[in-house]
Amino acid sequence: MDEFLLNSDIDEIVDRISGPAQDFAGKTALLTGGRGFLGRYFMEIFDRLNSRVLDKPIRVVALDNLITAGKEGAEIPKHDNVTFVRHDVTQPFAWQGRLDYVIHAAGIASPFYYRAYPLETLEVAVTGTRHMLELADGHKARFTFFSSSEIYGDPDSRHVPMQESYRGNVSCQGPRACYDESKRVGETLCYIFHTKNGTATNTIRPFNVYGPGMQETDYRVLPNFASRIKGGQPLHIYGGGNQTRTFCYITDAIVGFLLVILKGVAGEAYNIGTPTPEISMLDLARRIEGILDKKIAYDVIEYPDSYPADEPNRRAPDIRKAQLQLQYAPEVDLDEGLRRFLIWSDGVYTGEQ
Ligand SMILES: NC(=O)c1ccc[n+]([C@@H]2O[C@H](COP(=O)([O-])OP(=O)(O)OC[C@H]3O[C@@H](n4cnc5c(N)ncnc54)[C@H](O)[C@@H]3O)[C@@H](O)[C@H]2O)c1
Repeated sequence: MDEFLLNSDIDEIVDRISGPAQDFAGKTALLTGGRGFLGRYFMEIFDRLNSRVLDKPIRVVALDNLITAGKEGAEIPKHDNVTFVRHDVTQPFAWQGRLDYVIHAAGIASPFYYRAYPLETLEVAVTGTRHMLELADGHKARFTFFSSSEIYGDPDSRHVPMQESYRGNVSCQGPRACYDESKRVGETLCYIFHTKNGTATNTIRPFNVYGPGMQETDYRVLPNFASRIKGGQPLHIYGGGNQTRTFCYITDAIVGFLLVILKGVAGEAYNIGTPTPEISMLDLARRIEGILDKKIAYDVIEYPDSYPADEPNRRAPDIRKAQLQLQYAPEVDLDEGLRRFLIWSDGVYTGEQ
């Protein structure tokens, strides 16, 4: 078991997905980004499905070049049928034999890191996606691409919450373009392989997933807040603090992702997230104060050089498509999710970013 994750969360996910997951029995899956925040959950979930649910195990090969995996990702768990290969997916990957699912979750996801590695961010979403699509196409495997809610850019308020049909408002130049635009091209590649070759592709657009297992040096907002709380430092809120997000607890997110992987309609994109509350960063700090029942100081500061400014003002998903087509139903509300995350981070984080 990955020591950075919560056993109870892994069991919760397996309980919720155990019916549809029967389709995994006896199959083979390739998972990219297997040592990242989401990938590490997938490795544990597949192992737990094998031990608790499936008559015949699913065999999983997880790839990662460990570029942003951190110390958590570098500790590779030992599982019978879930194995790890160090590989950069911007290079082709040869696979002989059966392949039923390709889950392409490799990416450079944290704004701090895509500011540091803009070309690698672009390459993994474009060249990496193409290599993985070719592999899926050659094996007639189902293909799932982890895109992002960032493909919607900075939406006009009339389009919030965003439906999958919203075309977005994205800049092709600027500090976020390497991520937003390359994820858009990744989606276009999925569209091309689906319409031209008939590859069964799906695109997932996750909306701000958080939970135990996030690296302290991830620099996305919640690990950032949690680390500063642990270190007894005031929270840093960038910009004005009025920018809004919704937050999706990891168990709800992974259940949604697995429903897309198992049951997504070929060629379709799905928003996966928790639609409410849409909360500003200032209100998020106050909410945490209420949960911890103690005064939390915060400073509203300019964007640091290490973090890309130009961020979306509002972001919230419309998840009716996943609800209707996949019976996706988030269950963990914000207070409960924050409580689980903050108890975990208090035990694991050092307070020294
Ligand atoms: N977590 C979220 O809230 C969220 C939101 C939107 C989109 N996504 C997308 O979902 C995917 C997984 O997100 P995450 O939070 O686990 O990110 P993460 O950064 O924690 O993990 C991504 C993993 O991909 C690996 N990687 C990067 N480039 C690679 C390459 N060229 N070859 C092989 N491995 C490579 C990294 O080393 C890392 O372990 C990413 O594609 C991300 O863009 C995540």
